[in-house]
Amino acid sequence: MKRTNMKIVVNRVLLLAVFMLSTPLVASPPTAFEGRGLYVSYCLLCHGVGGKGDGPLAKTMEITPADLTTTVRSRSDTILTKIITGRGRQMITGRDRHNLLSDAMPEWGALFSDDQIHSLIAYLRFLGNKKHALMGDPRVGMQLYQEYCSVCHGVEGDGDGIMTKLMGIMPMDHTNPNETNHLSNQALIESILSGKGRYMPAWRGVLSQGDIEALVSYIRLLSH
Ligand code: HEC
Ligand code: HEC
Repeated sequence: MKRTNMKIVVNRVLLLAVFMLSTPLVASPPTAFEGRGLYVSYCLLCHGVGGKGDGPLAKTMEITPADLTTTVRSRSDTILTKIITGRGRQMITGRDRHNLLSDAMPEWGALFSDDQIHSLIAYLRFLGNKKHALMGDPRVGMQLYQEYCSVCHGVEGDGDGIMTKLMGIMPMDHTNPNETNHLSNQALIESILSGKGRYMPAWRGVLSQGDIEALVSYIRLLSH
């Protein structure tokens, strides 16, 4: 009896070792997170930080940049791809002002890979949803997340960190909007500051308010 128990333990340790070796140490950035980076560099100038069409360049333009927080909702991914790349743009229909998009919106053609377009669209959808604003810098959040949270919440944020096997816990899946969307930014901040249940640690005194706002912003993008 003791023998078989021992065998099971040894097997578990071996399994864990294999698991740890096969787990990538660096996460591939979530889609909307990646999209935000591209948006900041290529779109913010005209469309503005929050996508309202009020970027620093907007004042100088004859045709106002679109308010993406409202227009994008009714657009399919296929149409958005056409709008962004400029390929087949004349086929766009259903605009209020005119059926064609003017050339005031640059054609990004081959500048972006398919994956990048996909990420950009994920971020536009996030702006369109707008349930929760980004409070801090998600790039800072990503770094902190990898350092402090991924052992439990997983490098990809889906709740399968190394510690979950060791401790037998089930942390929240941060990539699932159904788990995070109903919680306000303030509620998430409070849980991170004060901990939750038995195994979600309290980070008050370890992380600053700014750190935690950055983490919450990263968690928001994880679920898009
Ligand atoms: C030089 C300014 C400028 C930049 C930079 C820019 N846009 Fe635009 N964009 C516009 C203008 C102006 C319009 C509205 C054109 C019109 O109404 O004919 C527009 C329209 C759009 C629309 C159509 C909205 C709709 O549903 O009707 C989308 C989507 C869009 N832009 C996405 C982007 C993305 C994504 C980027 C970055 C990769 C970007 N834009 C960069 C100026 C810009
Ligand atoms: C020791 C493992 C562990 C670590 C490390 C950890 N968490 Fe958690 N976390 C959990 C567990 C377990 C839960 C589920 C708690 C519950 O609902 O009982 C959880 C839940 C959460 C929740 C949901 C709270 C709510 O209101 O439902 C958030 C947000 C969260 N964690 C963020 C973080 C962040 C950010 C970090 C890193 C700074 C982190 N966690 C580090 C284990 C951990």
